[in-house]
Amino acid sequence: MTAKFTPRVFSGMQPSGDLHLGNYLGAMKRWVDMQNAGTHETVYCMVDLHAITVWQDPAALARSTRELCAGFIAAGIDPEKSILINQSQVPEHAQLAWIFNCVARMGWMGRMTQWKDKAGKNAEAASLGLFAYPALMAADILIYHATHVPVGEDQKQHLELTRDIAAKFNHDYGVDFFPITEPVIEGAATRVMNLRDGTKKMSKSDPSDMTRINMTDDADTIARKIRKAKTDPDPLPDNLGGLDARPEARNLVNIWAALAETTPEAVVEANAGKLFGYFKQDLAEIAVEKLAPIADEMARLMQDEGEIDRILARGADRARALSAPVLEETYRIVGMVGR
Ligand code: TRP
Repeated sequence: MTAKFTPRVFSGMQPSGDLHLGNYLGAMKRWVDMQNAGTHETVYCMVDLHAITVWQDPAALARSTRELCAGFIAAGIDPEKSILINQSQVPEHAQLAWIFNCVARMGWMGRMTQWKDKAGKNAEAASLGLFAYPALMAADILIYHATHVPVGEDQKQHLELTRDIAAKFNHDYGVDFFPITEPVIEGAATRVMNLRDGTKKMSKSDPSDMTRINMTDDADTIARKIRKAKTDPDPLPDNLGGLDARPEARNLVNIWAALAETTPEAVVEANAGKLFGYFKQDLAEIAVEKLAPIADEMARLMQDEGEIDRILARGADRARALSAPVLEETYRIVGMVGR
């Protein structure tokens, strides 16, 4: 079904501020790997239009958007190799989203678990944009005819909806215009958990800063947080199975593996019998070596707003070369006069 489409990866992230290790290992680093694999074109997007489906302070939104851009570049997204954009700077996303608002059904949207979670008991007070959020997400992806979308497990249902919207559009208009996108779901190995409670995801909203490593943390802070991470008194086992009931220990092994680009199995084998006190010292060294240069580069870029804005303007130009013809053709298919 997707054979006639150029292999193209699209993914997006909300500019919600406070980037942490979970964002880096779970998303950014995977995106960088896909960029460097060279098998697909890659388009990466800061989704500011999605962010405002719940209230955002304007100055904070602008700052978070530039910070996310700096984070992407510091993490290894190369704005020449990938197309790096801010969603509102490519108007075709919102334009296609309107068409999709007219393709998607109220019932489909009402079944989205993220909508139900975020709207909570007071859905009457939620914005209309929050309800339509997944249709805009489908537009983000399909405006580029993207074939592959790397996301976390929590976005799987939105990608199924994206496929449903593409299929219904194609069916209703009798065309084979939008691809049926493949989700590329994050595996457990890159899912980073809370440093104090290995059963919860690392999150920017946890009240304790000691539960997460922020991408802007300096070397001392990174090392201190790892040293103080919760573990248990037992040494490392000689196989992964020995970590089954030890979520905090397992999380540190996963983080090591992801940062050092190896497997959790190999980390356990190489450290079998070691006490966590020593393991954490070594892990802190690896983490500082990988993360401190990213924090430095982010700080450097954040000093130069003009440079960030130029990169985003150029990204928007490159994106529009792809998105404008797709929107034109969509309008033509739908019967909009003037093209
Ligand atoms: N909803 C996604 C999230 O919260 C962000 C997003 C917006 C996205 N548009 C996208 C992800 C398109 C993948 C593709 O993580």
